[in-house]
Amino acid sequence: MVGGIVKALPDGWFVVHGASAETRWEALADAGYFVPNDRFFVRNHTATPVIDAAGWRLRVHGAGVREDCSFGYGEILEMPAVTVDAAIECAGNGRVLFGEQQGTPVPGVPWRLGGVGVARWRGVPLVEVLRRAGLSPEAVDVLPSGLDAPYVCEGIDYGRVRRPLPIAKACDDVLLAYEMNGEPLPPDHGFPVRLVVPSWVGVASIKWVGDIEVSAEPLFSPWNTRFYRMFGPDHPPGGGPPLTAQGVKSAFELPWDAVLPAHRTLVLRGRSWSGAGRVVRVEVSTDGGASWERARLRGPRPAAGWVRWRYTWRSPRPGAHTLLARAADETGGTQPGYMPFNVHGYMFGAVVSHPVRVVRA
Ligand code: MTE
Repeated sequence: MVGGIVKALPDGWFVVHGASAETRWEALADAGYFVPNDRFFVRNHTATPVIDAAGWRLRVHGAGVREDCSFGYGEILEMPAVTVDAAIECAGNGRVLFGEQQGTPVPGVPWRLGGVGVARWRGVPLVEVLRRAGLSPEAVDVLPSGLDAPYVCEGIDYGRVRRPLPIAKACDDVLLAYEMNGEPLPPDHGFPVRLVVPSWVGVASIKWVGDIEVSAEPLFSPWNTRFYRMFGPDHPPGGGPPLTAQGVKSAFELPWDAVLPAHRTLVLRGRSWSGAGRVVRVEVSTDGGASWERARLRGPRPAAGWVRWRYTWRSPRPGAHTLLARAADETGGTQPGYMPFNVHGYMFGAVVSHPVRVVRA
């Protein structure tokens, strides 16, 4: 067990960052649409708890429900189930690029672009469980808490990982998931039950959920006050609002500093996604942004997932090159050339300069 993560973290698939592990993009080159469970990134504040489903119960309580009640694993499995294809992405995905690409390094898990994955999740709509607890029209916020150990950082105990969700989102498309890509949730991804909050920053998708408070007034936790908000000179004094939907991003299924053969026809593959809606266009530049050409989109495009694409690079010359990919989504959202700085390094959505070396084969 490395850094509190239960599953194996082979070097060919992951870069380990302390208690978290990011998927290498080249590990997706031979994967299908979904990221297999054994290659899916892990973001843990502490360590994966090993929970016995037989003894586990989900407590639902607070002024926003009629009664304090709880549900066992078997009861959750018997409720009407739905399947959702959705990405989970850390708000800090791309953080290292604030330093490497823009010259303003920020502390935090130094994700490159592998703090994201798309899976097929199966479970019960959260609204179904809230209704069974007697959801009140007065309900305002829903606060799920994880059963992992309290998060302690620099001597401050922030308590269990927990983050309020507005009732409108909670009752819209949020899932209490118990299956990931057709298997019971693996321990690192929230067994026995986690939230999946489609299109929103990954921290909303609380793993190992054991308690849900439903309030009749706004709720606060460090994860919607101190963390997961934008702070810095380009943001409102006192910080921006709690982060919700993700921006637009693109990545090549290539190693960083990939070595590619010269004078061949190369098919470059990648994936693009957006928290605002489906990606409708992807363009690639192989000359550092001087010219752009359309990539060919292929395969499924669920609203909260990603789209795969390919681009043919003809006869590259030997030497160092920079590959760029930029996407646009159905709401008109695009990827800028530069991302304004924020203290925690969240939401790096700028076009990424991906270095490759082309060598004589
Ligand atoms: N839930 C709990 N209980 N503890 C955590 O540390 N990390 C959050 C979220 N849910 C976390 C959690 C963050 S920041 C992210 S990005 C996602 O889980 C990552 O989900 P994954 O590890 O299944 O990829």
